[in-house]
Amino acid sequence: MATLDESVVVVTGGAGFIGSHLVSGLLKAGVARVLVLDSLRYGDPANLADSDRVEVVEHCFGSKDDAALARHLDGADVVFHLAAEKHNQSKDSPAAVMDANIKGTHALFAAAAESKVRRVVFSSSLYAYGRTNGGPYVETEVPEPRTVYGISKLAGEHLLWHLAQNGLEANVLRYLFVYGPKQFAGMGYKSVIIKNFERLRAGLPPTVYGDGRQSLDYVYVDDVVEATMLAATAERTGLTLNVGSGRKTTVNELLDVMIDVSGKKAKKCSEPADWTAGSSRVGDVRRIEEQLGWRATTPLESGLARTWAWMNGNG
Ligand SMILES: NC(=O)c1ccc[n+]([C@@H]2O[C@H](COP(=O)([O-])OP(=O)(O)OC[C@H]3O[C@@H](n4cnc5c(N)ncnc54)[C@H](O)[C@@H]3O)[C@@H](O)[C@H]2O)c1
Repeated sequence: MATLDESVVVVTGGAGFIGSHLVSGLLKAGVARVLVLDSLRYGDPANLADSDRVEVVEHCFGSKDDAALARHLDGADVVFHLAAEKHNQSKDSPAAVMDANIKGTHALFAAAAESKVRRVVFSSSLYAYGRTNGGPYVETEVPEPRTVYGISKLAGEHLLWHLAQNGLEANVLRYLFVYGPKQFAGMGYKSVIIKNFERLRAGLPPTVYGDGRQSLDYVYVDDVVEATMLAATAERTGLTLNVGSGRKTTVNELLDVMIDVSGKKAKKCSEPADWTAGSSRVGDVRRIEEQLGWRATTPLESGLARTWAWMNGNG
C-alpha cells in the first residue's frame, strides 16, 4: 500500500492529543474520509480540523458499543487504534483499563479482520517494556510490563498478531514520550511539560523531583504522526517499532530549555525525590529507521516553542 490518498480510514481516539494531530495529517495526505471513534471522555471534537471528510462517532471501547464495530469498519482501508485508558488510570481503575484496552481492543481487531480492513496500525507504548532504567529499549528484548496499563498494551499487541494471522496486515508502534500542542485536553494526567509550562505562565518556578537527572525520550507529535502514517503505507508489515527521538533528555535539561523558550526569568525549585529517581526511559530507534526510513527531526527547542505558543493561544 503506497499511499493513503483517497482511502477510507478509522482513527480510534481521534479526538485526543495524538489522534487529532493524526487526523490533520491524514487529511493533508488526501484521505477520502476519516471516521473518528472516541468515547469523548478525555478527547474533544473541538481538537479536530473542521472538514466534511471527518465524522465523529461517540464510541466507548470495552462497552456494549462494540457490537456496532463491524458496521463502523465496513469499507475502511486502514484502522489506526489510539483510543486507550492511559497509564494514570492504571492504579485507580485497573478494571476500566482492561475493559477499554484489552476487551475493546480485541473487539476492534476482530471486527477489522472480519470486515476485511487492509491494515491496522496499533499505538502501543514504552510501558509495554516495563523497566525504568538501563540502556535504551530494544524491540527484541523480552517485555516485562509492570503496570496494568503496560500489560494491557502488550496484550493489545499480542491480540493484533493473533488476529492478523489470516491476511490482516498490521504494524505496532511503541511510542516514547510524545509532546506538543493539545496535549492536555482538560482532564486527567498532565505531562511534566504541560504542568511546568503552566507554572511558568503563572509566574511560578518549574519543579524538579529529586536531582533532576532522570531521563526520558521526548518526541514531538508531528514526528509521531509521520511515523504512524508511514506504518500504514510501508511495504513491510508484522513490525514492532519504537517511535522516539532516541535521545536522552534529563528533567534538568528539559526544564532549562523550557525556561529559555518561555523567556521567563525563572529558577527551578526542588521537591523530594519520587519513584522516577535514577530512571532512564529511552527508545532505541535503529529499527524504525531501518524499516521505515523514519527518524524524528524536530529539535526539542522547536517542539517546546510550538507547545508554549499553543499554550499562550498562538498555536
Ligand atoms: N502521549 C504519549 O506520550 C503516549 C506515549 C505512549 C503511548 N501513547 C498511546 O497513544 C495513544 C494516544 O494517546 P494520547 O496521548 O493522544 O491520549 P489522549 O488521552 O489525549 O487520547 C486518547 C483518546 O482516546 C479516547 N478514549 C479513551 N478511552 C476510550 C474508550 N474506552 N473508548 C473510546 N475512546 C476512548 C479519549 O477520549 C481520548 O480522546 C494511546 O493509545 C496511548 O496509550 C501515548
